[in-house]
Amino acid sequence: MKMKKPYVVVNCASSIDGKIALPGKKPLKISNEEDVARVHKLRNECDAILVGIETILADNPKLTVKAKYVDKVRQPIRIVLDSELRIPEDAEVMKPNAKTIIVTTCKEFKKGHVEVIKCGNDKVDLKRLMEILYDRGIKKLLVEGGSTVIWEFLENKLVDEMMVFYSPIIIGNNAPTIAGGEGAKSEEELIKMEIKSIERIGNGCLVKFIPK
Ligand SMILES: NC(=O)c1ccc[n+]([C@@H]2O[C@H](COP(=O)([O-])OP(=O)(O)OC[C@H]3O[C@@H](n4cnc5c(N)ncnc54)[C@H](OP(=O)(O)O)[C@@H]3O)[C@@H](O)[C@H]2O)c1
Repeated sequence: MKMKKPYVVVNCASSIDGKIALPGKKPLKISNEEDVARVHKLRNECDAILVGIETILADNPKLTVKAKYVDKVRQPIRIVLDSELRIPEDAEVMKPNAKTIIVTTCKEFKKGHVEVIKCGNDKVDLKRLMEILYDRGIKKLLVEGGSTVIWEFLENKLVDEMMVFYSPIIIGNNAPTIAGGEGAKSEEELIKMEIKSIERIGNGCLVKFIPK
């Protein structure tokens, strides 16, 4: 039987050398203004946006749609994978601009617009989470990172489409890459994708991939 899951789109902004931040997870604005506008339109089409806790700790993103980029704002639910509930109370996603779901492996409670749910034992069980989100009406999910979360979604074969905006910059060294996690240990474990489209966006380009 086909698994019940939202349509999953991964989106990230990368340097030419596949890095998505500076070394030490130091935040870096990689997208250009045209790409930022594209991402806000994409967010507006999705029912929820998901990130890992390390992205919250590194970048403190709002994960909302800015009105200037879209005709009618439809704020998606913000979802954070955070096994041990490390999220700071003053994180931007804790502010009431949109609903937030924090997915842990330890606690469950609801406080205002923030809901904490438990899914999994060690780390968040992504396959089970997909079913839970689908049952809650989340039919299109945008995964915005970071590196570990993108790897886990790909590895679990949960990704329907992957969009990478490449900026013509090189970061080098050991900065986080598009997909980190455990990674492939042999050729057999490679995750294979095919190119759906390539589009120039200002000084960069957007490549859309689908799983092979
Ligand atoms: N350029 C871009 O487009 C972009 C976008 C987003 C982020 N970033 C960058 O990405 C970097 C952060 O990436 P990261 O790899 O360090 O962290 P991350 O992917 O944001 O978060 C990973 C953490 O999520 C938690 N988690 C819980 N269940 C998980 C599961 N099933 N699969 C994966 N993670 C799970 C784990 O922490 P616990 O065990 O504590 O739960 C894990 O360490 C930052 O530097 C940020 O700037 C860049």
